[in-house]
Amino acid sequence: MRAIQIVDTTGPESALELGEVPEPEAAHMMTPGSGVLIDVEAAGVSFPELLQTRGEYQLKPPMPFVPGSEVAGVVREVQGEAAVAPGDRVAGFCVLGGFAEVAAAPTHFTFPLPDSLDAAQGAGLVLNYHTAYFSLVTRGRLRSGETVLVHGAAGGVGTATIQVAKGLGARTVAIVSSDEKEAVAREAGADAVLRSDGDWREAAKEASEGGVDLIVDPVGGDRFTDSLRALGEGGRLVVVGFTAGSIPEVKVNRLLLNNVEVIGAGWGAYVLSKPELTLEIGAELAKLIDSGAVRPIVGARFPLERAADALLALDRREATGKVVLEVSA
Ligand SMILES: NC(=O)c1ccc[n+]([C@@H]2O[C@H](COP(=O)([O-])OP(=O)(O)OC[C@H]3O[C@@H](n4cnc5c(N)ncnc54)[C@H](OP(=O)(O)O)[C@@H]3O)[C@@H](O)[C@H]2O)c1
Repeated sequence: MRAIQIVDTTGPESALELGEVPEPEAAHMMTPGSGVLIDVEAAGVSFPELLQTRGEYQLKPPMPFVPGSEVAGVVREVQGEAAVAPGDRVAGFCVLGGFAEVAAAPTHFTFPLPDSLDAAQGAGLVLNYHTAYFSLVTRGRLRSGETVLVHGAAGGVGTATIQVAKGLGARTVAIVSSDEKEAVAREAGADAVLRSDGDWREAAKEASEGGVDLIVDPVGGDRFTDSLRALGEGGRLVVVGFTAGSIPEVKVNRLLLNNVEVIGAGWGAYVLSKPELTLEIGAELAKLIDSGAVRPIVGARFPLERAADALLALDRREATGKVVLEVSA
């Protein structure tokens, strides 16, 4: 089969090679003896793949390896108990191996893809939307009627978080850096959109009657202290990622003075050993797809052979919504 491999750690321009490799077995490496083999139509592109081209991601398989953590396509074969069968359209989280014509995913990470979503949308459904639900609900304890502020709101995690929060009855405030990204955040359903280079902290407080209840932050960097100041009493700031590059430090007196919390949300590490939680989150997201709240926003689409350009879009802060590789028609 055709696949993209990471062959060294020289970065996205030079570390990727398109070639022929053997097809995987249905049994997934994380769940020996069971798994789902998927004929891939579209593969989602995310930060871990970018970091893997530089050897900077925690998961470091021996090289060369096929990157790609999630796909959408059609089931070819199932091993073990699964809620899907050969011929079904599915979205699957495969951890590695997604930038290929055929990929394997664990059974509990493979979800039916409804006809209302195309393959490119399916390729953006697992990582970002499960992370969004996990950050908002499992870790952030979101309640209907609360105000949620989302950093990096036009990105993959950001658009997903806006849609899930809205679907669960929250009011959403989006923080973005450009006009184009403002339009994407509005398309995702944000109630208010503020600029990261303006006085968003005061505007967010005004938009939420004195202070935001919950902040989801995949960006980190300098804005972290302002995020703490934008929270209302009892507010929660959920740490999801550090696309701005630097890892913020917290002066913990701020937590005490304002009675606020900083909460970590590491989806992959948490759910890996809890298949029942993944199935629960999948069922909640299926309801939000049915209600129309969840509609993944696909930004740039590239053919498989242009995987490097897809990773560079993320690296250059140009990506909006989900960046996708179109693998087969
Ligand atoms: N904790 C978890 O379980 C988990 C799960 C999934 C993803 N993540 C992490 O979440 C982060 C976001 O992922 P994503 O897929 O949403 O990425 P994305 O689509 O590229 O969006 C990231 C956003 O970060 C903002 N940003 C600010 N400074 C940036 C910079 N120097 N370079 C790039 N972007 C910058 C950009 O928004 P503006 O231009 O509007 O500022 C951009 O839209 C990543 O770090 C990823 O690894 C964590």
